[in-house]
Amino acid sequence: MASVAVIMADAKQSEEKLKHESVALAEEIDKGSMCDEIVGSSGALQKVLFLVSKVAPTDVTVLITGETGSGKELVARAIHRRSRRSPRAFVSVNCAAIPRDLIASELFGHEKGSFTGALQRRLGRFELAEGGTIFLDEVGELPLETQIALLRVLQEHEFERVGGTRSIQTNVRVVAATNRDLRTAIAAGTFRSDLFYRLNVFPIEMPPLRERREDIPVLVEYFIDRCARNAGKDIRGINKKSLDLLQSYPWPGNIRELQNVIERSVIMCETENFSLDETWLPQQPVASESKGQPGFSQKLAARGKEIIESALRESEGRVFGPSGAAAKLGIARSTLESKIQSLKINKNLFRA
Ligand SMILES: Nc1ncnc2c1ncn2[C@@H]1O[C@H](COP(=O)(O)OP(=O)(O)OP(=O)(O)O)[C@@H](O)[C@H]1O
Ligand SMILES: [Mg+2]
Repeated sequence: MASVAVIMADAKQSEEKLKHESVALAEEIDKGSMCDEIVGSSGALQKVLFLVSKVAPTDVTVLITGETGSGKELVARAIHRRSRRSPRAFVSVNCAAIPRDLIASELFGHEKGSFTGALQRRLGRFELAEGGTIFLDEVGELPLETQIALLRVLQEHEFERVGGTRSIQTNVRVVAATNRDLRTAIAAGTFRSDLFYRLNVFPIEMPPLRERREDIPVLVEYFIDRCARNAGKDIRGINKKSLDLLQSYPWPGNIRELQNVIERSVIMCETENFSLDETWLPQQPVASESKGQPGFSQKLAARGKEIIESALRESEGRVFGPSGAAAKLGIARSTLESKIQSLKINKNLFRA
């Protein structure tokens, strides 16, 4: 007879799970309809799309690497959409945006009373993604103890809720992404090498936009069209000077930066012809500076590096969050990430 209570409890739990899953699905559908097209025809992008088509139908773990704004999440979504898991949830987790002491509970859930503030049992993202795909963005930011739990999920397909004693079986495909060099993180002792090899079963590297400039005109056209429609404007052309500028700029923030520049320009545009405000593209180092002597731009870069390093030192290597370096410097997280990358700063050196 005890089984009746168990069945009822189970039914309640599945209901809770379903509710959560439909929320996750609704979020996914929302985002998906906004930006599900991968635009571009360069060889480098075609190679990525070929890899996606090969790996999507399998259950293999994928590790997507690439600079900020290069389309890693877009590719992760494409993998899910082209898999037989597509009717189920795609749950995206930005490991860098969640405070370190909450990440285990966020991923694996917690039992009531497992820590101060845990007033209710809560399902984690893995349970919400059951049958579907979980996207672990910025996986390099996971604390070491959570890395061990993730390794167990990948090896044994099971985990425990925080404060729980029961192992929960899971059927979730893991797609992870990072804009950090995980091998450097391994060398610095902040990332487990066994987890790296488990994640890196099928690596996909997103090429930066400056290495596939052929894609710029079609991306520009795509974004102008989309933004103009949203803004209720009719833009029919683009002047050559603007297109040349867009094509020669190195795009440290990649496609996200391009998208933002176009969006701003469309808002400002008052004619049928799209034109670009040059001041929105930060000045580039002057190529003709003498090789031996450090020029103004190198000096500027060195000064920028010092400022960023000192903010990282103060925030013990954290970029995001209220006490992170981005907040200290008063700049966007993506801007700081791309600066860290372009100035070749190793943020791990500043970790506590
Ligand atoms: N090939 C593409 N075609 C159309 N839109 C794109 C393309 N690549 C990226 N985008 C758009 O650019 C933006 C950034 O892409 P995405 O979020 O996938 O980058 P990311 O690599 O995950 O960045 P981050 O490292 O900062 O998280 C998104 O709005 C995405 O829709
Ligand atoms: Mg991302």
